[in-house]
Amino acid sequence: MTVATARAHPNIALVKYWGKRDAAQNLPATGSLSMTLDVFPTTTTVALDETLDADAFTLNGRAASGVPRERVIRFLDLVRERAGSTTRARVSSTNTVPSGAGLASSASGFAALAGAAAAAYGLDLDQRALTRLARRGSGSAARSIVAGFAVWHAGDDEHSFAEPVDAPALAMVVATVDASEKPVSSRDAMRRTALTSPYYPAWISSTEQSLRAALAACRDGDVARLGRIAETNALRMHAAIQASDPPIRYLSPASIAILDRVEALRADGVGAFATADAGPNVVVLCRPGDADAVRAALAGLAELIVAHPGPGLHVELGAEAVTP
Ligand code: DP6
Repeated sequence: MTVATARAHPNIALVKYWGKRDAAQNLPATGSLSMTLDVFPTTTTVALDETLDADAFTLNGRAASGVPRERVIRFLDLVRERAGSTTRARVSSTNTVPSGAGLASSASGFAALAGAAAAAYGLDLDQRALTRLARRGSGSAARSIVAGFAVWHAGDDEHSFAEPVDAPALAMVVATVDASEKPVSSRDAMRRTALTSPYYPAWISSTEQSLRAALAACRDGDVARLGRIAETNALRMHAAIQASDPPIRYLSPASIAILDRVEALRADGVGAFATADAGPNVVVLCRPGDADAVRAALAGLAELIVAHPGPGLHVELGAEAVTP
């Protein structure tokens, strides 16, 4: 029996991925830019088992079913096809991020699965190839393979990979206002936005510009410019989502209260900028030295955790599952 265990962390996009040019290969409509966090890791063990008729998947100690299980099996099928194997596997995954709450659990989840499955099935992949593999499970997972800041390129299968980017020192204050499952998954909402939102074409063209501008701000080490771009890009994504038919609203009054507080912080001279993924939780970007001031300003509005740039994928062959 071959066993491998991998650990990966979630990432938060400063320039978002929201829309696909090809769903089968999970190619994004635009490039995106993110920071992998040093909190909320997912640890996943893949153990090949000749005696199994079907893959088994447990998430946080409970047998998973439905869509999450199907996505894992489809991903393992892809790895098996490349490895020339038909052996089924036991997959056990421990997530420390609240699943489905818009904090990118699928990013850390599929990054860890890609690492553990590739190792267990004997695929010898470099970082770039691993990001392309993880992309097939969940687009944002490509970026969680990479430590710290990552750009994930749009393009065809070969060119749509994630790679490291130099960026100025940044902290993220993760403000969790609601850790429950979101009503519409990001995958479904993304499809609905592309099909029905009249703002989708504008979202795509403006995001291409935002990515170029954000990469330039990274090169210049300009936190304020990067933060401004990230906040604008996030609000544009939510505007495009809200304009879908039927509409989807991820931001709640609690999210808006945080956005207001961030604006007030800026008026007080603190360089704080907000972003939010497909859920009501808000992440506030700032210089590491301002993280305490941001946390103090948001106290009482949400559960708060300060995150910094975190490690990329870590894989151990032959290891048993470990709780992070
Ligand atoms: C809002 O990576 O979950 O977090 O590729 O369909 O699995 P799939 O989508 P997913 O979408 C993430 C969307 C986002 C923005 C981002 O992380 O860039």
